Amino acid sequence: MAELIEALAARRAQRAFDPREVPAETQELLWRAVSVAPSHGNVQSVRLLVAQSKAARQAVAGALSEGNRNWAPAAPLLVALASMPGHEHADAYGEERAIWSFHAGIAAGNLMAQATALGLIAHPMAGFDEAAVGGAFGAPDELRILVVFAIGFPGPVESLPEDLQRRERREQRRQPLERLVAIDRWTAANAEAARDASRSRRDGGKLER
Ligand SMILES: Cc1cc2nc3c(=O)[nH]c(=O)nc-3n(C[C@H](O)[C@H](O)[C@H](O)COP(=O)(O)O)c2cc1C
Repeated sequence: MAELIEALAARRAQRAFDPREVPAETQELLWRAVSVAPSHGNVQSVRLLVAQSKAARQAVAGALSEGNRNWAPAAPLLVALASMPGHEHADAYGEERAIWSFHAGIAAGNLMAQATALGLIAHPMAGFDEAAVGGAFGAPDELRILVVFAIGFPGPVESLPEDLQRRERREQRRQPLERLVAIDRWTAANAEAARDASRSRRDGGKLER
């Protein structure tokens, strides 16, 4: 029987990094994986802001949520994935459906699959201050930053604090396909949330700074 593509099946949001740098030619493959992503009318509104120097990484790390600051600064690359809403077509598809954001999602999928195929971790983070990350790069206000990736080669799990070591070893949890897929008709199973309501964020997802 056919199997899932390895780069999809093997990807995990790992947190333990090796300090080794990501070679320039390997980085280029990641950026090219984003470059070949499709976009509405080929607008190519996605941008990648790569923090590689110590100063740039420190500036981006300082804009991360407290939880992410516990592990992400060890990654040799911090990469903000962004999109330019103003580059989209001014039609109902582009504006009402926020397709600039959808484009960033496709780019993120390509980036993570390519990173996995190269033996890299590309851990996405929503926990960051958007204005501070944009400011670190001198980016214009109209650029919307959707996610920051911590990218690098995997390192020893023991390098992480205990609680994160446990999370690192946790099995991947996914909802059953009956809930994910509605064939011919929406069912009650499709409406069930994967998230356990008792574990939802009490802080409303606010940054702890
Ligand atoms: C858009 C997005 C934002 C995320 N934000 C964070 C984050 O801020 N911090 C973090 O540690 N993990 C973050 N994650 C990783 C998820 O927690 C992780 O993907 C999920 O628990 C499933 O685990 P898996 O990717 O190993 O299968 C994020 C993932 C996505 C797709």
